[in-house]
Amino acid sequence: MQIARYTAYGGSETVTFDDAPIPTPRPGELLIRVRAAPVTAGDARLRSGKVPRGLGLMLRLAIGWSRPRVAPGWAFSGDIAALGPGVTGFQPGQRVFGLKGFKGGAHSEYLTIRADGTVLPLPDTLSHEQGAAFFFGGLTAAEFLIDRAKLAPGERILIAGATGAVGGAAVQIARHLGATVAATASPANHALARQLGAAEVTDYRIGPPQGPFDVILDVMGSLGWNGSKPLLSPKGRLILITADLSEMLASALNRRFLTGTSKEDLASMRRPVGLHEQGGYTPVVGPVLPFAQLPEAHRIAESFHKPGNLVITMADPA
Ligand SMILES: NC(=O)c1ccc[n+]([C@@H]2O[C@H](COP(=O)([O-])OP(=O)(O)OC[C@H]3O[C@@H](n4cnc5c(N)ncnc54)[C@H](OP(=O)(O)O)[C@@H]3O)[C@@H](O)[C@H]2O)c1
Repeated sequence: MQIARYTAYGGSETVTFDDAPIPTPRPGELLIRVRAAPVTAGDARLRSGKVPRGLGLMLRLAIGWSRPRVAPGWAFSGDIAALGPGVTGFQPGQRVFGLKGFKGGAHSEYLTIRADGTVLPLPDTLSHEQGAAFFFGGLTAAEFLIDRAKLAPGERILIAGATGAVGGAAVQIARHLGATVAATASPANHALARQLGAAEVTDYRIGPPQGPFDVILDVMGSLGWNGSKPLLSPKGRLILITADLSEMLASALNRRFLTGTSKEDLASMRRPVGLHEQGGYTPVVGPVLPFAQLPEAHRIAESFHKPGNLVITMADPA
């Protein structure tokens, strides 16, 4: 099988392919034939080492000093090719989707994962491309809007950067929660933002829309606390999805300023699945490229201007 590898921190040319034997599932594991996988902003950041100011040292301590010692690929959607000894509750051939997490391994034609780990049956209402696209924005938007900002029906929210992976999920989930959504996007994406549920859309390059907002979800951190504060209602909360170290430290002292990362466990994964079943969230699939074009996929992912989620697809087995 073909498996991707990072050779160094750097540009997309550091993504290469190796031949490897198809793994044998150990007791309690599933062998999955990967059909589609997202190439996320997170994948691009791990490869390049480019993270918000102050976080580079932590990244290198966590995943490798001189090169990323992680395998490419955070999430996947695929079919169960084999069950390891002792596995119950799954069937060969079943469609599943899940997370390999930051240690990766989903940019590969096959992978193994613990059957009691971060893997779930793929709903019939989702294609493999949608399954691949499902969790990156869905987990982040659900946790920040519901648990952290406690977005309530009737509140007014600004989603700044509304049509990428996180923003596209946030618009839908905020609307489903009963909020009124104002969005910013570049003009090419205004129709998509409205289609996802935004009541008003403006171009972020012209300036922010008219406040006040009960919640602002700032995807790229382009407004920040100083830019958001004049737009917030007296009890308004700011969610900064992309935050640097100083912003993370400042948010620890301010209950209205929310930063951090979302949980990646099975219970957290079930929530966007529940939202999907209620009609409140279906991921936007943007560019779809074959696995062989993974380096090009990385170039697009790190532009931070893609519509929805970028997905790579694996060819049918020979
Ligand atoms: N905290 C967490 O747990 C967490 C989780 C996931 C992602 N992230 C971070 O969130 C960021 C976005 O990830 P993503 O996957 O959603 O990226 P994405 O799919 O590339 O989407 C980026 C979005 O931001 C918009 N945008 C770009 N530049 C902007 C600017 N200067 N002002 C306002 N909007 C702008 C884009 O709009 P146009 O395309 O219309 O230009 C697009 O809607 C990344 O930095 C990623 O590392 C953090």
